[in-house]
Amino acid sequence: MASFVISIAALKRNTAILRQVKEAANCKVVLALKGFSCWKAFPYIKDDLDGCCASGIWEALLAKEEFGKHVVTYSPAYTEEDIVQLLAFTTHLDFNSLSQWSRFREMIMAHPRFQSGELHCGLRINPEHSTGETPLYDPCVPGSRLGITAAQLEGADLTGLSGLHFHTLCEQNSDDLESTLAAVDEKFGHLLRSPQFTYLNMGGGHWITKPDYDRERLIRLVREAQEKYSVEVWLEPGEAIAIHTGVLRCEVVDVFESMGHRHAILDISATGHMPDVLEMPYRPEVFLAERGRPACEEKAPPAVTYQDETYLSTEDPSSTINHLPSTTYRLGCPTCLAGDIIGDYAFSRDLIPGDILIFDDMAHYTMVKTTTFNGVKHPSIVLQHEDGSLETIRKFSYEDFKQRLS
Ligand SMILES: Cc1ncc(COP(=O)(O)O)c(C=O)c1O
Repeated sequence: MASFVISIAALKRNTAILRQVKEAANCKVVLALKGFSCWKAFPYIKDDLDGCCASGIWEALLAKEEFGKHVVTYSPAYTEEDIVQLLAFTTHLDFNSLSQWSRFREMIMAHPRFQSGELHCGLRINPEHSTGETPLYDPCVPGSRLGITAAQLEGADLTGLSGLHFHTLCEQNSDDLESTLAAVDEKFGHLLRSPQFTYLNMGGGHWITKPDYDRERLIRLVREAQEKYSVEVWLEPGEAIAIHTGVLRCEVVDVFESMGHRHAILDISATGHMPDVLEMPYRPEVFLAERGRPACEEKAPPAVTYQDETYLSTEDPSSTINHLPSTTYRLGCPTCLAGDIIGDYAFSRDLIPGDILIFDDMAHYTMVKTTTFNGVKHPSIVLQHEDGSLETIRKFSYEDFKQRLS
């Protein structure tokens, strides 16, 4: 049966880097649960981080119950019921619009946790400075619903607020943060310089744990912001915590040819278990697991490796550097969706039913988005501990499928 396998060693490698950054920059770093919320792994990483960033009441409850420390909540819109629950434990509550803040302000400011300083409230701002290339991931596109513009803030009553929050990056380096901070300063610097504002949340999208990420510049930028505005700085990465920490192992169920294409049907679904392959879209690395054959040395091995296996890497058949003696397969899925296809991959041998394929980098924004569309069996969730041992923390059954729909 298919499984998501998460490497504790790889997670700890990432959070150790984040810890170094936060210590050098003297800022707070929280895990964005929207990107990775496999809570059974939290005990291994929580010492390195300051808490979690939640996108609403359910993630906030998970943060409180399983992570502890700070719960930093921002949602594009809260219901009154959400606010009532959140007031009891969240440490930061950031709002996306002035209408939401004015609707709930009185209730919040009367709450004992607000009055004692245990709860801080802020506004998400929109610096209107796009640095990304994909409109789907750009909160600064014209007409965006995410964040308040400087024009909207003019003349607004900001009583009770102590923070500003922006999230405009996605898989970006610190040069884009630098230009974003310049836009923030130009449009919102007057607020940040006033003693009323005591925190600045710089959101997520910082690819801090990537080898080519310029961490020194991030540290300098955070320190400069702290000095310039006398604020506490928060970062809330998701992807940087879980990048290259897990795989999706699956099995080839059928192989056939149709209209000039060789198809391999797997026991997982792109739309059901790895939707970013279709939505983002992106092309994951795939490896063929083998026993007793030399591994291909041209690529880094997958994030999770088993002692008795080697991994044959695959190539993009359209790539000009493809020089493997190859057989190309269209990797498809067992659902009715015609486009439920992961992509065309060239393998160095023919695939047969029972072959194990490993999709790399499947820990972030995958497990949090899965569905049981078409009743395709949901992959199990497995932790690989630092000694290499495997612990299956969750298996999904037909009963889970049935219960969710009743
Ligand atoms: C408000 C906010 N904070 C943090 C994140 C985490 O971003 P990433 O996983 O790219 O670091 C996101 C992602 O969409 C977000 O919307």
